[in-house]
Amino acid sequence: MISKKMVAAINDQIKAEFDSAFIYLGMSAYFEDSDLPGMAHWMRKQYEEEVEHAEKFMDHLYERGATVKIQEVAKPKEKYDGPLDVFKETLKHEQHVTALIHKLMDLAVEEKDYATQSMLQWFIDEQVEEEASVTAIIKSLELLGGSGGIYMLDRELGRRSGDDD
Ligand SMILES: [Fe+2]
Ligand SMILES: [Fe+2]
Repeated sequence: MISKKMVAAINDQIKAEFDSAFIYLGMSAYFEDSDLPGMAHWMRKQYEEEVEHAEKFMDHLYERGATVKIQEVAKPKEKYDGPLDVFKETLKHEQHVTALIHKLMDLAVEEKDYATQSMLQWFIDEQVEEEASVTAIIKSLELLGGSGGIYMLDRELGRRSGDDD
């Protein structure tokens, strides 16, 4: 049996994943507007990945016989101060999500909910990858700096496929 407390916490995480999805969809729109189609594409993939995360949590609740409650999604920001600002905010947001996942794990340990712990381990590993890939992009942007570098990085990020991370 999954506890009511665990179900409520996972439902909140489902909202957090959809919030993340919409933050990245907003960033994708910002990049489209800024004529950076590669970065827009990268953010669209990121959006799709966050929806998959939400669904993974939803499926866990269904498998455990619990009820999913879809909550309101927060309206994302529209204005940013260039690509470096966007990716720095992305890293900050991912660090926030990592902290949320760790809190969920703390609760699952407290509740002796081994099935949820096993499911959460995937997310803990995923967050390490997410933070690492965004940190690498920030480093490239800081190194490459000017518009020529941004153009090159835009082309590179445009090659992100659906299943690379
Ligand atoms: Fe996520
Ligand atoms: Fe994420």
